[in-house]
Amino acid sequence: MKSLIIYCSSYKGNTEKIAEVFAKITKAELINLKNCKDIKIEEYDLIGFGAGVYKESMSPQLLSYVDKLNLKNKKVFVFSTSGVGLTFYNKKLIKLLTSKGAICKGSFACKGSFVSKDFSNNKIFEIMSKFAKGHPNYKDFERAENFIKTVML
Ligand SMILES: Cc1cc2nc3c(=O)[nH]c(=O)nc-3n(C[C@H](O)[C@H](O)[C@H](O)COP(=O)(O)O)c2cc1C
Repeated sequence: MKSLIIYCSSYKGNTEKIAEVFAKITKAELINLKNCKDIKIEEYDLIGFGAGVYKESMSPQLLSYVDKLNLKNKKVFVFSTSGVGLTFYNKKLIKLLTSKGAICKGSFACKGSFVSKDFSNNKIFEIMSKFAKGHPNYKDFERAENFIKTVML
């Protein structure tokens, strides 16, 4: 199975660390969206799309990139890192991917460290940042490994 992973990890490289775990196991080609040129999507059997969450949304650059693709019957999976670390942020991208004809094989999320003052003065984010400190960590990597193995089944 020929695999590709396209990711956007513009803040601290948190999502990139998860993308690297997936790439190692699937032997995927790993592409940072910021260096993304002409990719022949049709050459791949499985494509992973991942991004950090910025202001309640996965990277808008990734969303607009996906919007231009024809993914008819293409197997895909989605991953994100965020302060909360939950998969609900992946839903919008999954909806977009399936509207392009893709078959979503899975959705993964974990916490990614951040400095709350970088984007909000809200106390809740300050508390959240304490829980996200040190993530992604070895447990997240372990979970990522288990996740990608189920995607490849
Ligand atoms: C400008 C900015 C906005 C963010 N907004 C959110 C958010 O709305 N919800 C959340 O859970 N985390 C939020 N975070 C935390 C990031 O999602 C988290 O640090 C993520 O791991 C960043 O991924 P990256 O290092 O791969 O870019 C935000 C971080 C920044 C810098």
